[in-house]
Amino acid sequence: MIKLEKVYKTLGHRPILRGLDLEVKRGETLIIIGPSGTGKSVTLSHIIGLMRPDEGRVLVDGIDVGAQDKKGLEVLRTKIGMLFQGGALLNWMDIYDNVALPLREKTSLSEIEIRERVMNILEFLELKGAIHKMPSEISGGMVKRAGLARAVVCEPKIMLYDEPTSGLDPVMSRKIDSLVELLKQRYGMTSVMVTHDLVSAVNIGDKIAMLAEGKVVEYGTPQEFMQSTHPLVREFINAQFNTGKKVFHA
Ligand SMILES: Nc1ncnc2c1ncn2[C@@H]1O[C@H](COP(=O)(O)OP(=O)(O)O)[C@@H](O)[C@H]1O
Ligand SMILES: [Mg+2]
Repeated sequence: MIKLEKVYKTLGHRPILRGLDLEVKRGETLIIIGPSGTGKSVTLSHIIGLMRPDEGRVLVDGIDVGAQDKKGLEVLRTKIGMLFQGGALLNWMDIYDNVALPLREKTSLSEIEIRERVMNILEFLELKGAIHKMPSEISGGMVKRAGLARAVVCEPKIMLYDEPTSGLDPVMSRKIDSLVELLKQRYGMTSVMVTHDLVSAVNIGDKIAMLAEGKVVEYGTPQEFMQSTHPLVREFINAQFNTGKKVFHA
Protein backbone atom coordinates (compact mmCIF):
# COMPACT_ATOMS: atom_id res chain seq x y z
CA MET A 1 0.00 0.00 0.00
CA ILE A 2 2.75 2.44 1.03
CA LYS A 3 6.38 1.86 0.18
CA LEU A 4 9.43 4.05 0.57
CA GLU A 5 12.47 2.79 -1.31
CA LYS A 6 15.91 4.18 -0.45
CA VAL A 7 14.57 7.71 0.00
CA TYR A 8 17.11 10.51 0.33
CA LYS A 9 16.15 14.11 1.12
CA THR A 10 18.35 17.08 1.93
CA LEU A 11 16.72 20.19 3.42
CA GLY A 12 18.61 23.44 3.87
CA HIS A 13 21.95 21.71 3.09
CA ARG A 14 21.28 19.10 5.79
CA PRO A 15 20.75 15.49 4.80
CA ILE A 16 17.51 14.50 6.59
CA LEU A 17 16.38 11.23 5.01
CA ARG A 18 19.35 9.02 4.22
CA GLY A 19 18.23 5.92 2.42
CA LEU A 20 14.91 5.39 4.19
CA ASP A 21 13.14 2.09 3.47
CA LEU A 22 9.66 1.57 4.84
CA GLU A 23 6.62 -0.49 3.98
CA VAL A 24 3.03 -0.40 5.22
CA LYS A 25 0.66 -3.12 4.12
CA ARG A 26 -3.02 -2.54 3.39
CA GLY A 27 -5.08 -2.23 6.56
CA GLU A 28 -1.99 -2.07 8.75
CA THR A 29 -1.09 0.61 11.30
CA LEU A 30 2.57 1.59 11.28
CA ILE A 31 3.90 3.62 14.20
CA ILE A 32 6.93 5.83 13.62
CA ILE A 33 8.95 6.92 16.61
CA GLY A 34 12.34 8.56 16.94
CA PRO A 35 14.24 11.53 18.32
CA SER A 36 13.05 15.07 17.52
CA GLY A 37 14.27 16.48 14.24
CA THR A 38 15.06 13.08 12.80
CA GLY A 39 12.70 13.35 9.84
CA LYS A 40 9.44 11.80 11.03
CA SER A 41 7.21 14.65 9.84
CA VAL A 42 9.32 14.91 6.68
CA THR A 43 8.59 11.22 6.04
CA LEU A 44 4.83 11.86 6.27
CA SER A 45 5.22 14.85 3.92
CA HIS A 46 6.77 12.51 1.34
CA ILE A 47 3.87 10.07 1.57
CA ILE A 48 1.28 12.77 0.94
CA GLY A 49 3.42 14.42 -1.74
CA LEU A 50 4.15 17.70 0.04
CA MET A 51 7.83 16.88 -0.51
CA ARG A 52 9.57 14.93 -3.26
CA PRO A 53 12.55 12.66 -2.68
CA ASP A 54 15.95 13.73 -4.03
CA GLU A 55 16.65 10.06 -4.65
CA GLY A 56 14.62 6.88 -4.24
CA ARG A 57 10.89 6.35 -4.64
CA VAL A 58 7.69 6.74 -2.66
CA LEU A 59 4.88 4.47 -3.80
CA VAL A 60 1.27 4.79 -2.62
CA ASP A 61 -1.14 2.23 -4.02
CA GLY A 62 1.41 1.56 -6.77
CA ILE A 63 1.60 5.26 -7.70
CA ASP A 64 5.00 6.96 -7.74
CA VAL A 65 4.24 10.01 -5.57
CA GLY A 66 7.39 11.95 -6.45
CA ALA A 67 6.60 11.71 -10.16
CA GLN A 68 3.07 13.16 -9.94
CA ASP A 69 2.15 16.55 -11.33
CA LYS A 70 -0.32 18.89 -9.62
CA LYS A 71 -3.33 16.99 -10.95
CA GLY A 72 -1.85 13.63 -9.97
CA LEU A 73 -1.19 14.88 -6.46
CA GLU A 74 -4.79 16.09 -6.15
CA VAL A 75 -6.02 12.63 -7.06
CA LEU A 76 -3.58 11.06 -4.60
CA ARG A 77 -4.76 13.34 -1.81
CA THR A 78 -8.35 12.22 -2.21
CA LYS A 79 -7.08 8.86 -0.92
CA ILE A 80 -5.03 10.25 1.95
CA GLY A 81 -6.14 12.11 5.06
CA MET A 82 -3.63 13.78 7.30
CA LEU A 83 -3.87 15.00 10.86
CA PHE A 84 -1.15 17.64 11.14
CA GLN A 85 0.86 18.13 14.30
CA GLY A 86 -1.06 21.27 15.32
CA GLY A 87 -4.53 19.98 14.49
CA ALA A 88 -4.85 22.66 11.81
CA LEU A 89 -8.39 24.00 12.18
CA LEU A 90 -9.36 27.29 10.62
CA ASN A 91 -9.93 29.72 13.48
CA TRP A 92 -12.62 31.75 11.73
CA MET A 93 -14.93 28.81 11.08
CA ASP A 94 -16.99 26.88 13.59
CA ILE A 95 -16.44 23.16 14.09
CA TYR A 96 -19.21 22.18 11.70
CA ASP A 97 -17.81 24.28 8.84
CA ASN A 98 -14.26 23.14 9.56
CA VAL A 99 -15.26 19.50 9.22
CA ALA A 100 -17.51 20.16 6.21
CA LEU A 101 -14.77 22.03 4.35
CA PRO A 102 -12.96 19.07 2.74
CA LEU A 103 -16.29 17.68 1.50
CA ARG A 104 -17.28 21.05 0.06
CA GLU A 105 -13.88 21.44 -1.60
CA LYS A 106 -13.16 17.92 -2.79
CA THR A 107 -16.56 16.38 -3.55
CA SER A 108 -19.74 17.32 -5.36
CA LEU A 109 -21.98 16.17 -2.51
CA SER A 110 -25.07 18.26 -1.77
CA GLU A 111 -25.32 20.20 1.49
CA ILE A 112 -27.82 17.63 2.74
CA GLU A 113 -25.41 14.78 2.08
CA ILE A 114 -22.57 16.78 3.58
CA ARG A 115 -24.64 17.42 6.70
CA GLU A 116 -25.25 13.71 7.14
CA ARG A 117 -21.57 12.82 6.78
CA VAL A 118 -20.42 15.63 9.08
CA MET A 119 -23.00 14.84 11.77
CA ASN A 120 -22.08 11.17 11.61
CA ILE A 121 -18.41 11.74 12.22
CA LEU A 122 -19.03 14.43 14.87
CA GLU A 123 -21.31 12.07 16.73
CA PHE A 124 -18.78 9.26 16.42
CA LEU A 125 -16.06 11.51 17.87
CA GLU A 126 -18.34 12.84 20.63
CA LEU A 127 -18.29 16.37 19.29
CA LYS A 128 -21.98 16.99 18.66
CA GLY A 129 -22.12 19.51 21.50
CA ALA A 130 -19.39 21.59 19.89
CA ILE A 131 -20.85 21.93 16.39
CA HIS A 132 -21.42 25.67 16.56
CA LYS A 133 -18.40 26.49 18.70
CA MET A 134 -15.31 28.19 17.32
CA PRO A 135 -11.95 26.40 17.70
CA SER A 136 -10.88 28.94 20.36
CA GLU A 137 -13.94 28.07 22.47
CA ILE A 138 -13.23 24.36 22.92
CA SER A 139 -10.59 22.38 24.81
CA GLY A 140 -7.32 21.15 23.29
CA GLY A 141 -8.62 17.60 23.27
CA MET A 142 -11.71 18.67 21.36
CA VAL A 143 -9.59 20.60 18.85
CA LYS A 144 -7.56 17.43 18.27
CA ARG A 145 -10.72 15.40 17.78
CA ALA A 146 -12.19 18.02 15.45
CA GLY A 147 -8.93 17.93 13.45
CA LEU A 148 -9.30 14.18 13.32
CA ALA A 149 -12.93 14.50 12.17
CA ARG A 150 -11.84 16.85 9.41
CA ALA A 151 -9.03 14.54 8.34
CA VAL A 152 -11.25 11.45 8.10
CA VAL A 153 -14.54 12.94 6.87
CA CYS A 154 -13.72 12.09 3.24
CA GLU A 155 -13.18 8.48 4.35
CA PRO A 156 -9.66 8.24 2.99
CA LYS A 157 -8.07 4.83 2.40
CA ILE A 158 -4.94 6.05 4.14
CA MET A 159 -4.59 8.16 7.27
CA LEU A 160 -1.41 9.89 8.40
CA TYR A 161 -1.28 11.11 11.98
CA ASP A 162 1.46 13.43 13.23
CA GLU A 163 1.67 13.19 17.02
CA PRO A 164 -2.10 13.03 17.61
CA THR A 165 -1.79 12.64 21.38
CA SER A 166 0.98 15.13 22.13
CA GLY A 167 -0.13 17.65 24.74
CA LEU A 168 -3.14 15.59 25.73
CA ASP A 169 -3.66 14.02 29.13
CA PRO A 170 -3.45 10.21 29.32
CA VAL A 171 -7.22 9.73 29.48
CA MET A 172 -7.76 11.75 26.31
CA SER A 173 -4.74 10.10 24.67
CA ARG A 174 -6.26 6.65 25.19
CA LYS A 175 -9.54 7.96 23.81
CA ILE A 176 -7.77 9.12 20.65
CA ASP A 177 -6.11 5.69 20.40
CA SER A 178 -9.44 3.93 20.50
CA LEU A 179 -10.89 6.33 17.96
CA VAL A 180 -8.00 5.64 15.59
CA GLU A 181 -8.55 1.94 16.14
CA LEU A 182 -12.31 2.26 15.54
CA LEU A 183 -11.75 4.20 12.34
CA LYS A 184 -9.39 1.47 11.20
CA GLN A 185 -12.01 -1.20 11.95
CA ARG A 186 -14.83 0.77 10.39
CA TYR A 187 -13.09 1.89 7.18
CA GLY A 188 -10.26 -0.68 6.98
CA MET A 189 -7.84 2.19 6.86
CA THR A 190 -4.12 1.92 6.35
CA SER A 191 -2.48 4.23 8.88
CA VAL A 192 0.88 5.75 9.63
CA MET A 193 1.23 7.47 12.99
CA VAL A 194 4.14 9.46 14.32
CA THR A 195 4.11 9.50 18.11
CA HIS A 196 6.22 9.84 21.24
CA ASP A 197 3.61 7.93 23.15
CA LEU A 198 4.74 4.38 23.91
CA VAL A 199 1.27 3.37 25.08
CA SER A 200 -0.27 4.45 21.77
CA ALA A 201 2.49 2.69 19.86
CA VAL A 202 1.96 -0.60 21.65
CA ASN A 203 -1.84 -0.31 21.78
CA ILE A 204 -2.59 0.39 18.16
CA GLY A 205 0.57 -0.38 16.18
CA ASP A 206 0.74 -3.49 14.04
CA LYS A 207 4.37 -2.53 13.42
CA ILE A 208 6.68 0.00 15.00
CA ALA A 209 9.59 1.66 13.19
CA MET A 210 12.29 3.62 15.02
CA LEU A 211 13.78 6.34 12.85
CA ALA A 212 17.19 7.83 13.57
CA GLU A 213 19.43 9.90 11.36
CA GLY A 214 17.11 9.47 8.43
CA LYS A 215 16.95 5.69 8.47
CA VAL A 216 14.93 2.94 10.09
CA VAL A 217 17.13 1.54 12.86
CA GLU A 218 14.58 -0.86 14.34
CA TYR A 219 11.35 -2.35 13.01
CA GLY A 220 8.98 -4.98 14.29
CA THR A 221 5.75 -5.84 16.07
CA PRO A 222 5.11 -4.10 19.40
CA GLN A 223 6.23 -7.25 21.18
CA GLU A 224 9.48 -7.45 19.20
CA PHE A 225 9.98 -3.76 19.76
CA MET A 226 9.63 -3.99 23.54
CA GLN A 227 12.28 -6.72 23.51
CA SER A 228 14.67 -4.83 21.23
CA THR A 229 18.16 -4.28 22.58
CA HIS A 230 18.83 -1.31 20.28
CA PRO A 231 20.14 1.49 22.54
CA LEU A 232 17.77 4.10 21.08
CA VAL A 233 14.78 1.83 21.61
CA ARG A 234 15.83 1.14 25.22
CA GLU A 235 16.30 4.88 25.74
CA PHE A 236 12.86 5.62 24.28
CA ILE A 237 11.18 3.00 26.44
CA ASN A 238 13.02 4.05 29.59
CA ALA A 239 12.30 7.72 29.00
CA GLN A 240 8.57 6.97 29.25
CA PHE A 241 9.09 6.06 32.88
CA ASN A 242 11.30 9.08 33.55
CA THR A 243 13.77 7.09 35.57
CA GLY A 244 16.86 7.17 33.42
CA LYS A 245 17.43 3.62 34.59
CA LYS A 246 16.49 0.42 32.92
CA VAL A 247 13.17 -0.63 34.31
CA PHE A 248 12.30 -2.99 31.49
CA HIS A 249 14.35 -6.01 30.61
CA ALA A 250 14.12 -8.07 27.48
N1 LIG B 1 10.66 22.65 4.77
C1 LIG B 1 11.83 22.51 5.42
N2 LIG B 1 12.91 23.23 5.07
C2 LIG B 1 14.09 23.09 5.70
N3 LIG B 1 14.30 22.24 6.72
C3 LIG B 1 13.26 21.49 7.11
C4 LIG B 1 11.97 21.58 6.49
N4 LIG B 1 11.13 20.71 7.10
C5 LIG B 1 11.86 20.11 8.05
N5 LIG B 1 13.13 20.57 8.06
C6 LIG B 1 14.21 20.11 8.95
O1 LIG B 1 14.32 18.70 8.81
C7 LIG B 1 14.60 18.11 10.06
C8 LIG B 1 13.58 17.01 10.34
O2 LIG B 1 12.32 17.63 10.56
P1 LIG B 1 11.03 16.82 11.01
O3 LIG B 1 10.73 15.74 10.05
O4 LIG B 1 9.98 17.85 11.20
O5 LIG B 1 11.49 16.20 12.40
P2 LIG B 1 10.64 15.27 13.38
O6 LIG B 1 11.30 13.93 13.34
O7 LIG B 1 10.80 15.90 14.74
O8 LIG B 1 9.22 15.27 12.90
C9 LIG B 1 14.61 19.20 11.09
O9 LIG B 1 15.94 19.57 11.33
C10 LIG B 1 13.88 20.33 10.40
O10 LIG B 1 14.34 21.57 10.86
MG1 LIG C 1 7.51 16.17 13.66
